[in-house]
Amino acid sequence: MIKVYAPASIGNVGVGFDILGAAILPTDGTLLGDLIQIKQSKEFQLTNIGTFAHQLPKNIKDNIVWKCWDQFCKIIKKKILVTIVLEKNMPIGSGLGSSACSIVSSLFAMNELCNRPLSTNKLLKLMGKLEGEISGSIHYDNVSPCYLGGLQLIIEKNNKISQKIPNFKNWLWIIAWPGIKISTADARALLPSQYTRTTCIKHSRNLSGFIHASYTMQPKLAANFITDVIAEPYRSKLLPNFTQTKTTIKKIGALACGISGSGPSIFAICDNDLTAKKISKYLANHYIQSKQGFVQVCKLDTVGTRIIG
Ligand code: HSE
Repeated sequence: MIKVYAPASIGNVGVGFDILGAAILPTDGTLLGDLIQIKQSKEFQLTNIGTFAHQLPKNIKDNIVWKCWDQFCKIIKKKILVTIVLEKNMPIGSGLGSSACSIVSSLFAMNELCNRPLSTNKLLKLMGKLEGEISGSIHYDNVSPCYLGGLQLIIEKNNKISQKIPNFKNWLWIIAWPGIKISTADARALLPSQYTRTTCIKHSRNLSGFIHASYTMQPKLAANFITDVIAEPYRSKLLPNFTQTKTTIKKIGALACGISGSGPSIFAICDNDLTAKKISKYLANHYIQSKQGFVQVCKLDTVGTRIIG
């Protein structure tokens, strides 16, 4: 039996729409992500457990793990008979890479169980394809950091999909999920299909400036470039009081703040525990809308998906 953990992630990181993503790990030692247990068996079986298992579709063939199994078998040209338990700990439609957690953990686990028939790049390609089936278009900014860890820039050049970017070890990433759901497909439908030249230039400057500052180890400069001119102006209205929240937590001391993936979760970055505590408290009191919502102080998860237990 193999047990695999896949971490939550922040798509876009505010500055790299569809092409920048960060895997995250709570500093209190808890795991924030989905788990898969897999073993050989006489027939295919899939069981869902975990806090958010009730949000999964009733029909097994609509379950993303079944789709992963189906596609994996087609690619390796062999029907593998396995018993899978999905521990669905990530809320669906939260903007924290919930679908990526299920896709990446299950494909990683199947590949391990079969002695790695698929290379890292092939597996990542398949993960992107399955993510695309859920959200309406292929984007790797959740599946790549979830699988490979750290901060990942999606390059899709010379047969390489993703490139790890240097990160700042003292950055704390505070995430807040308000406890409401936004479908990625709906949040994508809100965006314009074309942008003005001015917006394109701003976007290029912000993203290239962020990458430059990351490679030259200038944390304040990097944080200053985390500005979203592509999605935030159109999506912020979907989030509870986002503009006010962002202004306040920046006053508290956040170096940057933005929408995590397609929302409704948000992220804030700071560089010390005291500020992280103050931001968390504010978000817990003002951003959380239901009992299920949560706030977590995280570090980057530099490992990505792994076998545990
Ligand atoms: N880049 C994607 C989007 C992430 O913003 O639509 C979805 O989690």
